[in-house]
Amino acid sequence: MIELDKVSKAFGAQAALREVTLTVPRGEVFGIIGRSGAGKSTLVRLLNGLERPDAGAVLIDAVDVTQLAPAGLRGLRRRVGMIFQNFGLLSSRTVLDNVALPLRIAGTDRAGIAARVAQLLGRVGLEDHADKYPAQLSGGQKQRVGIARALATGPDILLCDEATSALDPETTRSILALLADLNRDLGLTIVLITHEMDVVRQVCDRVAVLHAGRVVETGSVADIFLGPQASETRALLATHADGVDRLPFAGRTVRLLLLGEAASSPLLTRVARDTGVDMTILDGHVGRLKDVPFGELTLGLLGGDQEAALAALAHHGTVIA
Ligand SMILES: Nc1ncnc2c1ncn2[C@@H]1O[C@H](COP(=O)(O)OP(=O)(O)O)[C@@H](O)[C@H]1O
Ligand SMILES: [Mg+2]
Repeated sequence: MIELDKVSKAFGAQAALREVTLTVPRGEVFGIIGRSGAGKSTLVRLLNGLERPDAGAVLIDAVDVTQLAPAGLRGLRRRVGMIFQNFGLLSSRTVLDNVALPLRIAGTDRAGIAARVAQLLGRVGLEDHADKYPAQLSGGQKQRVGIARALATGPDILLCDEATSALDPETTRSILALLADLNRDLGLTIVLITHEMDVVRQVCDRVAVLHAGRVVETGSVADIFLGPQASETRALLATHADGVDRLPFAGRTVRLLLLGEAASSPLLTRVARDTGVDMTILDGHVGRLKDVPFGELTLGLLGGDQEAALAALAHHGTVIA
């Protein structure tokens, strides 16, 4: 549905994207992850025609959006909704008016607007907040307004640029759950830009890792988490493990990623018993990769046959030493 073919974009001497080639199939939640300055925002702005590439093609359903005339661009923007980190709401307008704005611009009549806005606010769980102003809403509610507004013209693609980066973890989870529902119920294709692996883990089907304007790795979320190939991907996964709460440990530390049954099996005690290695958990999380059980643990190892222990753990999961 979305194809980028050798897309390059520079701002003066600063290359923002270098020969980026990507395919996003219809109906996927596709993540694009990278550090600040990697080129993520530039990439999404190419998808809705806000930015034109210096070279390469940006195809949406086989139409090159870089070649569209203004009328074609307006049509494109009705099909491609977008939400932002800072929500982009008009502070002097009510929730209802913010959501109605794209419909007014599209020339929808009053009755049509009222019906559609009521439906959209119901969809994002804000039916009781129509007459409030943005300042009266929490961050999560503001992003729900942003989502309702982005969906107003019935797009089949939703672009999310760091849409949860200003939200706390619990609110992030609820917004990502809403995006997953919209993906499933409406068949909405979602391109989700983030610098957080945790966001990718919770909602994406596939992910591309962007570094210094280049795609350094693409794959299913399970493949990326369990078998990261590029050093940049490993670094993004490691950042998460080096959380501020990480406990100090005098011995050897390793990171272990587990998928599926292995995530809830009594693997650690079994390996410890078989190899005589004492293990302690320094940091960790057991949950899901979208729908599949997933665990990520930082282990401290003491004594015993540590090479044998690592080999046994690597048999069931991915070990990042
Ligand atoms: N409008 C612009 N003018 C000049 N430089 C820009 C502009 N937009 C982005 N850049 C540069 O392009 C690079 C990629 O930026 P951006 O796409 O915003 O990255 P990200 O969203 O991953 O943080 C950065 O080096 C940034 O400074
Ligand atoms: Mg950005």
